[in-house]
Amino acid sequence: MTDRYAVVGNPVAHSKSPAIHAAFARQTGQDMTYSRLLAPLDGFDQAVERFRIGGGKGLNVTLPFKGEAFRFATERTKRARSAQAVNTLRFDEDSVLGDNTDGAGLVQDILGNLGVPLAGKRVLLVGAGGAASGVIQALLETRVAKLVLANRTVERARDLAQRFGGSVEPCGLDALGDAGFDLVVNATSASLSGEAPSLKPGVFAPGCVAYDMMYGKGETPFLAAARAAGAGRLADGLGMLVEQAAESFEVWRGVRPQTAPVLEMLRGTE
Ligand code: ATR
Repeated sequence: MTDRYAVVGNPVAHSKSPAIHAAFARQTGQDMTYSRLLAPLDGFDQAVERFRIGGGKGLNVTLPFKGEAFRFATERTKRARSAQAVNTLRFDEDSVLGDNTDGAGLVQDILGNLGVPLAGKRVLLVGAGGAASGVIQALLETRVAKLVLANRTVERARDLAQRFGGSVEPCGLDALGDAGFDLVVNATSASLSGEAPSLKPGVFAPGCVAYDMMYGKGETPFLAAARAAGAGRLADGLGMLVEQAAESFEVWRGVRPQTAPVLEMLRGTE
C-alpha cells in the first residue's frame, strides 16, 4: 500500500510542502502520497488521530499547531525538546516520534545553499516566538561567536534566552547598540502584516547577510530595510522551507533527497 503523508495546519491551502515532497518522492523513487490536512483550530488531536488510523505514516506540522504536535508526540528528539515545538511527526508501530527540522533547515540553507560560513560570526536573531525558538539550538551548534536575541517585547526574549543558559544574549529591539552583525535573521511574523521589525540601520554590518524566515512574492519589508541599510546579501525563507522538508523526508523515509533542483523549480513558479 502507498504510504500517506500530509502537512497539517490552519490555514494550509497556501502550503508549498505537497509540491516539494512530491518532487522528492519522484526523485528518490519512494512510493508515497503527500496531501494537505486542514485541522480545526480546536481539533488538532482528533484530526491527527483520524489521519493516523486511516494509515497515515507521518505529518509536517505548521502554524498554529507546532506546540500541540509537541504534546501529541510520545517520543521527542533532542532538537524538538530544545525548540519545545514539533514540525515533523512520524507514526511508528507503538509510538509517535516528534522532531523539529526547522533549525537544521535554516542552517543548511545558509551554509549549503548560500555558502555563508557561520562559525565565529556575530548573529542577531529578531523575534522570540515559535519561529525563533525552533532555530536557536541549530545556530548555536554552528559555533557562532555571539547570538543576540532581540524582541519587541523584551521579557519574551529573556524567557526564551534563559532556556539556553548564558549562550544567548536577550535584549529589546530599541536597546540594540550600534554594533553591526554579520547575519541578521528575521524570525518575527511582522511581514504577515506588511511590516518590518523596527531595527536601527547600524545593526546591519556593511555587506552582512539579511535572512527573512518568511517568504512571499517580492521582497519582504525586512529585506527592503536591510538592503537600504547596506546589507550585502538578502535571502528569504524559501530555501529553509525546502531544506527542512528534506530533513523531514529523511526522518520518514531514511533517504536524503537533493534540494537544489526542487528549490530551482519553486523559484521558477513564484
Ligand atoms: P511565531 O510562532 O510565528 O514566531 P508568535 O509566537 O506569535 O509567532 O511570535 C511572533 C513574533 O513576531 C514575536 O516575537 C513578536 O514580537 P512580540 O513578542 O513583541 O509580540 C514579533 N512581531 C510580530 N509583529 C511584529 C512587528 N510589527 N514588529 C516587531 N516584532 C513583531
